[in-house]
Amino acid sequence: MRVFGLLLLLFGLCGSGAHGEGGGLGEVGEISQFQKTAPRDADEESTKQTTEQTTTDIWGEVRALRDMVVELKVELRNMKARVKDSESQVKDLKAELIVTKVLVDLLQKENSDLQIRLSSSEYELLVSKSRIDQLEREDVEIPKVAFYSALTDAGNVGPYKTDITLKYSKVFTNTGDAYNPATGFFTAPVKGVYSFQFTVCGNHKGNMGVYVYKNKQRMMYNAEWWANAGYEYLSNSVVLELIAGDEVHLVLPAGFFVFDNLNNHSTFSGSLLFPL
Ligand SMILES: *[C@@H]1O[C@H](CO)[C@@H](O)[C@H](O)[C@H]1NC(C)=O
Repeated sequence: MRVFGLLLLLFGLCGSGAHGEGGGLGEVGEISQFQKTAPRDADEESTKQTTEQTTTDIWGEVRALRDMVVELKVELRNMKARVKDSESQVKDLKAELIVTKVLVDLLQKENSDLQIRLSSSEYELLVSKSRIDQLEREDVEIPKVAFYSALTDAGNVGPYKTDITLKYSKVFTNTGDAYNPATGFFTAPVKGVYSFQFTVCGNHKGNMGVYVYKNKQRMMYNAEWWANAGYEYLSNSVVLELIAGDEVHLVLPAGFFVFDNLNNHSTFSGSLLFPL
């Protein structure tokens, strides 16, 4: 508004300057009149000088004002250009903002997908961990049971009038200490399937053989009526399902004998195949 007012004033000034008429400023009109007439006396001369001075001042001011207008015009043009520039920048920024928004949306979606995958991975990891823990527990809990023994260094055992438990006294392997050489009994530490093997040797005329017992129950009878010179053997094996505390041992039937010496002819062994 200020610029507009200034412009109005300037047009007024310019108009009066150019045509010498009383326009926007009465003073300017008078000045024009004086310019046309010649001075006549000293008073008139002085007045003329003052008037000329005033005219010069006014014209100087007018020029200054015009220059200002020109400057303002230039500035206005510059501002217009800058506004236009700003507008296009705003447009660009808007476009960029839209692109950014789309990108943010995409990233958010990706992020939530990743979070879902992460939490499912975490869950799988937990499941795997608990499985590993369980396996480790089972591995610790599964007892390691295996034994191998031979009967004696003393030669013939038997014959006796009654059945006797064979005490395999030479223990070479007894992992888990389930076999007791003092009693000849194997005691199952856990419920499971167990395997046993035995070899019976004879070296002189007579019956050789063994019974296999599970607790007080006879499971198997092996025997041979030895007739020839030299060693004779029989071997057999048995797989038994036992519960913890079940006992397995070999029994020499009454009237039978078994032979063993430093050469480990008669042996008894067994192991846990797997728990149940
Ligand atoms: C009897 O068995 C033990 C253990 O395996 C072995 O050290 C020893 O040499 C065996 N005796 C003979 C004569 O093979």
